Amino acid sequence: MRTINVRTSKKYNVIIGADLLDRAGAHIKNAAGGSTAVIVTDDNVAALYLNRMVKALGRVDYHTRVFTIKNGEASKNTQNYVRLLEFLAEQGLIRSDVIVALGGGVVGDLAGFAAATYMRGIPYIQVPTTLLAAVDSSVGGKTAIDLDAGKNLVGVFYQPKLVLCDYTVLEALPPRIFVEGCAEVIKYGMIADKELFYMMGNESQSDLEEVVSRCVEIKSDIVREDEFENGTRKMLNFGHTVGHAVEKLSNYNISHGKAVAIGMAIETMAAVRMGKCGINCYRELVDLLHKYGLPYTTRYSADDLSKVALSDKKRSGGKITLIVPEEIGICSLLDVEVNELKNIIESGLKD
Ligand SMILES: NC(=O)c1ccc[n+]([C@@H]2O[C@H](COP(=O)([O-])OP(=O)(O)OC[C@H]3O[C@@H](n4cnc5c(N)ncnc54)[C@H](O)[C@@H]3O)[C@@H](O)[C@H]2O)c1
Ligand SMILES: [Zn+2]
Repeated sequence: MRTINVRTSKKYNVIIGADLLDRAGAHIKNAAGGSTAVIVTDDNVAALYLNRMVKALGRVDYHTRVFTIKNGEASKNTQNYVRLLEFLAEQGLIRSDVIVALGGGVVGDLAGFAAATYMRGIPYIQVPTTLLAAVDSSVGGKTAIDLDAGKNLVGVFYQPKLVLCDYTVLEALPPRIFVEGCAEVIKYGMIADKELFYMMGNESQSDLEEVVSRCVEIKSDIVREDEFENGTRKMLNFGHTVGHAVEKLSNYNISHGKAVAIGMAIETMAAVRMGKCGINCYRELVDLLHKYGLPYTTRYSADDLSKVALSDKKRSGGKITLIVPEEIGICSLLDVEVNELKNIIESGLKD
């Protein structure tokens, strides 16, 4: 079992270990207290893990209530957000009680946003059940819901009281869902951890507890320095400028992980063309993506990709921040004029 202390404005632990689900009650009581716990989950996760979580909470005398949403991104909407708030009020939840988000990033983002806003904020715990949620969305305190106009358009920064990651749950994930998180793990390797990158290349050594811990440590270091994404935290967006554009252009038929894989490849090739990194870095990245069955090319044009990327919310003024790999495990931020973006992407599309 590993414990990583996240030192944002509010400090909390991320605990990573085996069979933590069954021991969740004591950890949650310790971190958040309270007498009623509302578990927010989705139908897939409920079928697999809800009973164990209810039992674990019962063992430490929580009154447990459950709010279940349909699985999938479409559930991260305003209706479910309001339904959840009404449910919390009906159950008489007060500020000393706790919300437990049991699921992937969709459940975590929705439950986190409800926790942040119900009664001006009540404690919540993240129990990630996807690799993506374990290495990314459960840590760092970004909460959000989607609008018809776009994803994650409403949200706040609100840190959980605790993150409990049972990696045996991740080991049992269907490959299609597991690989989504692998793209983010490879991203961490590229931006900050060469050893992690090579560990991912070496199947016999893939130790999920180690992999998740390394990612959480990197994220924790980054958010400690820049909780509200004014600078360094943008590093976590490596591959995402182009990746988000690919996702949107495909009408979300290309999944986030696959789109980020494509984005990382294009952004790395662009860095090669700018003379910021060597071609071997690109080759090693592409080989690793290929090994996980992740794509690294796209049929979309530089024109379409740059237009969509520039309509993204992460643009400030006349500049856009790119994350530029220098070698595996090292990257830097580079502000470029928005009108340069198309040419940069164009250069990244050429093999
Ligand atoms: N807050 C952040 O910092 C942050 C960062 C990255 C992504 N996100 C958000 O996270 C969401 C994506 O997260 P996700 O990829 O976890 O998606 P998800 O929550 O939709 O989970 C993916 C699928 O896996 C299923 N599932 C979950 N756990 C399972 C398990 N153990 N076994 C079998 N199936 C399981 C779910 O029911 C769902 O169908 C997006 O909404 C994205 O915006 C947030
Ligand atoms: Zn991502």
